[in-house]
Amino acid sequence: MMDENRVYSAPGDEIETKHPVLVSRYRGITRLNHWITALCMIVLLISGFSFFHPALFWMTGLFGGGQTTRWLHPIVGLVLVASFLLLFLQMWKLNLPRREDVEWSLKIGDMLKGDEDKLPELGKYNAGQKMVFWGMSALIALLVTTGIMIWEEYFPHIVSIPVRRIAVAVHALAALGAILIFIVHVYAAIWTRGTIRAMTRGTVTGGWAFRHHRKWLRELAGRQRTDPSK
Ligand code: HEM
Repeated sequence: MMDENRVYSAPGDEIETKHPVLVSRYRGITRLNHWITALCMIVLLISGFSFFHPALFWMTGLFGGGQTTRWLHPIVGLVLVASFLLLFLQMWKLNLPRREDVEWSLKIGDMLKGDEDKLPELGKYNAGQKMVFWGMSALIALLVTTGIMIWEEYFPHIVSIPVRRIAVAVHALAALGAILIFIVHVYAAIWTRGTIRAMTRGTVTGGWAFRHHRKWLRELAGRQRTDPSK
């Protein structure tokens, strides 16, 4: 007798497991490190904007007034530098440019259209992520250098007044660059479905890894086959 539940499938077709493949992408310590960096950046952006124009000065109220904000901003800046440095040390190697990044960049239109099958297979990061990484690294270095030059409370005579004026302008421009990169980074993380969980739960699905970072997944799968003890 025909099984009434079997209209579209043949005998033997069945769901083998309800557990999808999950791939570990960031350890807990790296995620904590990332979110401390992100929090510092948000505090710096809000407090920095509040000094930028009198119309924005009201935002200092969020940190307990103008004096406290003026004191807090450079201190949080130093925490960001230390925190980003730790991220940098963990991630710089996998963010080095590779040959496939050129092809990926030339085919960025296909990526935006969702035709990812036309793109080359990638390791842990794509060229866009690498640009975010190196762009942020350079701008944070510039921000801390110019920031120290204008930190009158602790370094009043480190540079002359004309140099300090240039440092203020460069500091503001570098902050603008960092904001643009920040927006691109957050937009890309939300836009590429299944990415946010990499930094919240630490894992991504096998499908996500296959679609976006296939070389990375292949390496992990290969390692598991050859060395099951690990
Ligand atoms: C609220 C803001 C933020 C959100 C929602 C966010 C989200 C994420 C997510 C989901 C990833 C994992 C992407 C992947 O592995 O494919 C990631 C990676 C990363 N994030 Fe963020 N992030 C934020 C802020 C920041 C800030 C402020 C910085 C640096 C100052 C930063 C630096 C990084 C770096 C270096 C990576 C590693 C990937 C790469 O090299 O581009 N993030 N972020």
